[in-house]
Amino acid sequence: MPSSSVLTLRRPDDWHLHLRDDAMLRRVLPASAARFGRAIIMPNLRPPLTSVADARAYRARIVAALPVGSRFQPLMTCYATDATCPNEVERGWTEGVFAAVKLYPANATTNSDHGVTDIVRLNPLMERLQALGMPLLVHGEVTSATVDIFDREAVFIERVLAPLLAGFPRLKVVFEHVTTQEAVAFVRGHAAEGRLGATITAHHLLINRNALFAGGLRPHAYCLPVAKRERHRLALVDAATSGEAPFFLGTDSAPHPVAAKESACGCAGIFTAPAGIELYAEVFERAGALDKLEAFASFNGPAFYGLTPNDDTITLHRRPWIMPELVEGVVPFRAGEDITWTLTDTTAGTLQ
Ligand code: DOR
Ligand code: ZN
Repeated sequence: MPSSSVLTLRRPDDWHLHLRDDAMLRRVLPASAARFGRAIIMPNLRPPLTSVADARAYRARIVAALPVGSRFQPLMTCYATDATCPNEVERGWTEGVFAAVKLYPANATTNSDHGVTDIVRLNPLMERLQALGMPLLVHGEVTSATVDIFDREAVFIERVLAPLLAGFPRLKVVFEHVTTQEAVAFVRGHAAEGRLGATITAHHLLINRNALFAGGLRPHAYCLPVAKRERHRLALVDAATSGEAPFFLGTDSAPHPVAAKESACGCAGIFTAPAGIELYAEVFERAGALDKLEAFASFNGPAFYGLTPNDDTITLHRRPWIMPELVEGVVPFRAGEDITWTLTDTTAGTLQ
């Protein structure tokens, strides 16, 4: 049990991360590598990563961009399209390149225009994933213009996720960045099966949809799925701080250049990596559940993915600091505001 001002944790992992490429990759990677042992790397680059060769090359670019001495491990994903070949996916899995397949409904979010138009077309891929025990990571929102944007996750559960799980009773699925009471209840309803996990972001634990309109339009609070009402945020806090096995950390840290956010049609994405673990510590502290942070951040994810927890630790002190207005050319979450916890020791990664 940690004392109230110092927190030492088994090193956490980030089960949902956007690192981008080239100069942006080099700028944003050190913050994640200082905190997390491993991360599931999202494949929504331009063009998306759809082959083993693409993922292998991207992994090499990430490793080349790591700070000297870092042991951070990028876990690569395959971007599913209508044309994804199960044999290619299987080859990536058996060769240790792909850790999972990522399913974006077509046009659901940033760089998802090559995504899946109808999941039923992917039944042969689902069969293969189920047989391999390879996880499917889903962006859980329907895209129909007739469904209100705040209802798209709940409708996805009914129309897509429930039938998928019923049709493939052994398929391992991660319901990514859940944002609703309905999603939390659905994941808990499947907990006994041990094959449905859910990631929860720090920003969805900290803001509700009012943040988008606080005194004016706030592009830096815009992400997808969009933040929901307060009762949904409270359900997410309850799930994360419960320590229950299906819920684990996934920041969905998603950097965009300032001009792409502050625009007439701003991109979705919140950049939380510069306080990637500190923000969660704040949530757990406020909920009186710091003793559950390690389960959520360091143990539940590896257990779901069939991996061992990291063998080193990180230490946080309850010492406030101010998040800069700009970090590496990107406006971070909480820019110019207090962050309660400070990362003070990291036995392997390079401290930022
Ligand atoms: O807010 C988001 N940003 N949600 C996503 O699903 C994608 C991400 C991005 O790539 O920017
Ligand atoms: Zn994402």
